[in-house]
Amino acid sequence: MAPLAPLGHQLQLNENPYGPPASVREALSRALSSANRYPEFLPQRLPRLIAERLGVDADRIVVGAGATGVIMHIVQEFGSGGAGVVMATPTFDGYPILTTMSGGRPMTVPLTPDGRQDLDAIADAIDERTRLVVLCSPHNPTGALITPREFEKFLHRVPATVPVVLDEAYVDFVPGEDRIEALALVDRHPNLLVLRTFSKAYGLAALRVGYAIGDPELIERIARWQLPFGMNALAEVAVRACYAAEPEIAARVSVIAGHRHRLTAGLRELGLSVPDSYANFSYLTLPEPDIDRVAAALAGAEIHVKRYPTGIRITVGDRSATDAVLATVRSTVQ
Ligand SMILES: Cc1ncc(COP(=O)(O)O)c(C=O)c1O
Repeated sequence: MAPLAPLGHQLQLNENPYGPPASVREALSRALSSANRYPEFLPQRLPRLIAERLGVDADRIVVGAGATGVIMHIVQEFGSGGAGVVMATPTFDGYPILTTMSGGRPMTVPLTPDGRQDLDAIADAIDERTRLVVLCSPHNPTGALITPREFEKFLHRVPATVPVVLDEAYVDFVPGEDRIEALALVDRHPNLLVLRTFSKAYGLAALRVGYAIGDPELIERIARWQLPFGMNALAEVAVRACYAAEPEIAARVSVIAGHRHRLTAGLRELGLSVPDSYANFSYLTLPEPDIDRVAAALAGAEIHVKRYPTGIRITVGDRSATDAVLATVRSTVQ
């Protein structure tokens, strides 16, 4: 598990600090000798592989160039022509950006003061112009989780004609007992689309692999936007190899969770407010003047993080990254 060592600490994109396991790297190296060959015209094998793993039919899966690629196709299908797309703010930047790119209108609902998506306010914001609703669990940037009960209650408030995206980009960091039973819910709610990615726990951000699980009719509508030959041929090789290396992936996830506990506890010991995070980042909630001071100190120490109007999101890196963040923040607040 050799940590990557670029300039400073790259803690701004919620990347996995560890490269893929050796077996995955070897599979990718072998596959490079076929780099002269095109991938499939439209991806068939990769959705089948993911479907087998999840125990669902392949027509319930659509893949894309990262979850971002799938989100693009979802908003192209449902969020164009001035359509309203209801989402929290702040949320994963891709949602407002891609909605606007495809001619839709982001309809944003502020987070609660403790960093959670306000599900009642989001349900209230749905009107006759709403064509799509987006929730993330864990949420980006705060790491807050939606409980299974809250989510089911929410689904019952959404008209069956409005698709709901449940973005689970960070679900692999959530303990099993706290997870929403997404696959069972997809069966019961044909307007639900669950989004996942191999960029986070699986550490394949460079290869761009994400997917949605949903009702075959919605999946087919999303897949119509796929670019011919658009999926990287190495994506399938890497996913197959990662599935064969699950114990190592799980070990990385628990190492990262350990670092997140240490980072959160260390920040709280300094008297700072950090909501419980279920993802591979922590959110340091700060009043406005302190945000600038802490952000400047982190930047001065070459620690790259993401700043928001109410705080700073810090990706969990390796041990040295956590040490560096804690030392820098301590020197700023004491
Ligand atoms: C909530 C959420 N969804 C989706 C993505 C996109 O991931 P990718 O396109 O790498 O699969 C991210 C990336 O940070 C994210 O935070």
